[in-house]
Amino acid sequence: MVDLINLVQTLTSPHPLDRYLELVRPTLTVRDMRAEITHVRRSAPGSVTLTLRPTRQWKGHAAGQYVQIGVVIDGVRHARCYSPVNPEGGRDRHIQLTVKAQPDGLVSQYLYRHATPGMVVDLTPADGVFRLPEPRPQRLLLISGGSGITPVLSMLRTLAAEDHPGEVVFLHYAKSPAVLPHRDELDAIAQRHPNFRIELRYPHRVRDVTRVDPDAPWVDLNQPKGSGYFDYDELERVAPWFADAQTYVCGPQSLMDAVRTIYQAEQLEDRLHTEEFTLSLVPADAADAQGTVDFSASGVSARNNGATLLEQAESAGLSPEYGCRMGICFSCTAVRRSGCTRNLRTGETDSDPDQPIQLCISAPVGDVEIDI
Ligand SMILES: Cc1cc2nc3c(=O)[nH]c(=O)nc-3n(C[C@H](O)[C@H](O)[C@H](O)COP(=O)(O)OP(=O)(O)OC[C@H]3O[C@@H](n4cnc5c(N)ncnc54)[C@H](O)[C@@H]3O)c2cc1C
Ligand code: FES
Repeated sequence: MVDLINLVQTLTSPHPLDRYLELVRPTLTVRDMRAEITHVRRSAPGSVTLTLRPTRQWKGHAAGQYVQIGVVIDGVRHARCYSPVNPEGGRDRHIQLTVKAQPDGLVSQYLYRHATPGMVVDLTPADGVFRLPEPRPQRLLLISGGSGITPVLSMLRTLAAEDHPGEVVFLHYAKSPAVLPHRDELDAIAQRHPNFRIELRYPHRVRDVTRVDPDAPWVDLNQPKGSGYFDYDELERVAPWFADAQTYVCGPQSLMDAVRTIYQAEQLEDRLHTEEFTLSLVPADAADAQGTVDFSASGVSARNNGATLLEQAESAGLSPEYGCRMGICFSCTAVRRSGCTRNLRTGETDSDPDQPIQLCISAPVGDVEIDI
C-alpha cells in the first residue's frame, strides 16, 4: 500500500496527491491528517466546545497532551495548540476541544464565532510530555485555572473512565460559575466516584472601596476566608497528602507561580508537572539588537531589531513553519549556521555553528545566519 501511494505521489508530482484528493473531499487524504468538525457547543459564555472526527491517520492522545489545529483565515493558514478534553483511549475516535475566545485572539475568536459542523481543519498528531503516567499514581492532585482546565479535565475523565481506585482531587479556579465549561460532567464524576473530590473556586477580586488609600491592595471581598486564591493552607485543606501525590497544574502565570513556589519550598519539584498556554520571556537586552539577520536559504537579510527570529522572518516577508509560538512544538526549528542567539525562555546564549534552534523563542545577538 505504501509503495502504491509513493508511486502515485511520483506520478502526481510536483503537487502531493493530497492536493488533488482535497478537491474531491477535504478529508480524503493519504498523508495529511485533517479533522471534520461534527458538533459545536457554546455552553459557557466565552468558550466553544468542538467535536472533531479525524481522518484515519489519527492515533489517539494521552490525557494531557495537545494537538495543533490549522485553520485558514483570510487566505492565510494559522496553527494553534489545543488540548483534547475527552478521555484517552476508548473506542470513540472523536476529539473534543474546548477553546476559550481570547480578547483579540485571532484563531480562538475565529473558532468561537465561525466554527460550524462540516468545517475541516488541519490536525497534527497528539504530542507533549504533560500526560498521565503509566502506571497511574495512586494519588493525584489536578490543579487548573481558566482555559487551563482542558488537559487536566482529560486526565480527570480518563481516571474516572478507568475507575481509578486511588484518591483524586481536582482543584479548579474560574472567574465565575457561569463561565465554567463542563460543569455538569464535573458534578456527575464527583457523584459517581466518592474517592474523587471536585473543588471549584471563584476568587473574585474587587477593590475595597471603603479604603481611602488608592494604592490599597486588591482584596477578596466576596469569598469566605480560605476559599480564595491558591496558597499553602488551601493545598493542605484539599489534599493533605500532596507530598505523596503526583500534581499536574495548568493555568495562568500567577497560579503556576504560586504552586511552583510552594513545591520548591517543600522540595517536591519532582512531583510537580506543569503545562503553560502562554509564554513568559526573560526581559529583552537592548544591546542584543544590532547587526544583520541573514535568512540565507531565502537570500533575504534584515536589520536585527531584537524581536524573535520568527517575528523577524515574518517581518521580512518570509513564512516559516510554526505552531505554538512558545517553544513547545518544535515546528519552527531551523538551523543557525553562524552567529549567536539568546533563548528567551532561559536567557542563555549559544553560538555553536550549525545548530538547530527554535525560531519562536530565539532572538539574535548581533549578526546571525539562519538557514531558512
Ligand atoms: C500546549 C498548549 C495547549 C493549549 N490548549 C488550549 C486549550 O485547550 N484551549 C484553549 O482555549 N487554548 C489552548 N491553548 C492556547 C491556544 O494555543 C492559543 O494560544 C489561544 O487559543 C489564543 O490563540 P489566538 O490565535 O486566539 O490568539 P493570538 O492571536 O495568537 O494572540 C492574541 C492575544 O491573546 C493573548 N493570548 C494568547 N493566548 C492566551 C492565553 N491562553 N491566555 C491569555 N492571553 C492569551 C496573546 O498574548 C495576544 O496578546 C494552548 C496552548 C498551548 C501551548
Ligand atoms: S512554534 Fe512551536 S516551538 Fe516554535
